[in-house]
Amino acid sequence: DDPERVRNTYEHIQGSQWEIARSNLVITNQQLGNGHFGEVKKGFIKERGRQEPVAIKSLKDNASEKDKTDFLNELNIWKKVGKHPNVVCLVGACHIRGVMYVAMEYARYGDLRTFLRRSRKNKDHHTYANMASTLRQTTLLKFALDTVSGLAYIAEKGIIHRDVAARNVLLADHLTAKIADFGLSKNDDTYVKTSRTRVPVRWMAVESLFNNTYTTKSDVWGFGILLWEIFTLGGTPYACIDTQQLFNFLKDGYRLKKPSLCDQNLYAMMLQCWNERPERRPTFPEIQGRLQRIIEDSQ
Ligand code: ADE
Repeated sequence: DDPERVRNTYEHIQGSQWEIARSNLVITNQQLGNGHFGEVKKGFIKERGRQEPVAIKSLKDNASEKDKTDFLNELNIWKKVGKHPNVVCLVGACHIRGVMYVAMEYARYGDLRTFLRRSRKNKDHHTYANMASTLRQTTLLKFALDTVSGLAYIAEKGIIHRDVAARNVLLADHLTAKIADFGLSKNDDTYVKTSRTRVPVRWMAVESLFNNTYTTKSDVWGFGILLWEIFTLGGTPYACIDTQQLFNFLKDGYRLKKPSLCDQNLYAMMLQCWNERPERRPTFPEIQGRLQRIIEDSQ
């Protein structure tokens, strides 16, 4: 363990636009999310007599090496990302008694996957009959469009997200969807993973599964899975297949089936996102344009 590294990273923040004065940060005991994000608590930034809600991640100086690497990587990527309406923005950081706190924009409706699952009237995953009335088709399409707009923006910044999934999309005011969690992100054209760490296999492109290679086109694959999650109202991809079977399933050219809530047009786009050859997958701006047209045509 290297407590120095956390402090050193904090030095880049001290005196910069990202430093939050200790006296302006209020951390509550209210835990946000279901633990997937690690510890995230609700807090407030005091500013000109107002209190702005924020979500706060924390990292102890004596955290594990892996947690530190992910956390500091996320912070560095986040500083580079900048502002976009469909990306959860970094508010700042603060180091208090051996703990680094990172504050981000608060998204009041929580993560997309939990939201979708709560919207199910019937807990039976196979009964979709009432769903269109529960969450309207246009709301689902808007989640998809928001997400792809955020992804197009970060791709243009040269960032590979590497964990595109409904659990990493947050819903803010007016149900605006925003990309979050840059813990696995890389600032690279192509990233080749060398260490053996846990990876989100069910969201991974074939070249990532078989060759540990990650590009914006593998994020496009992940977006295809995310589309599938949206139109199954938070379904688990390949729920009946274990990891080893999944490798063979995909290698043999099989893909997820069409969700009943989604039309052929949209399913065709999912299948394109899952093209075995990355260069044949659509780009994020292409997907963005197509979703915009689908939304216009449906209104
Ligand atoms: N859970 C994790 N991150 C969050 C955020 N930024 N806003 C609300 N809930 C969250």
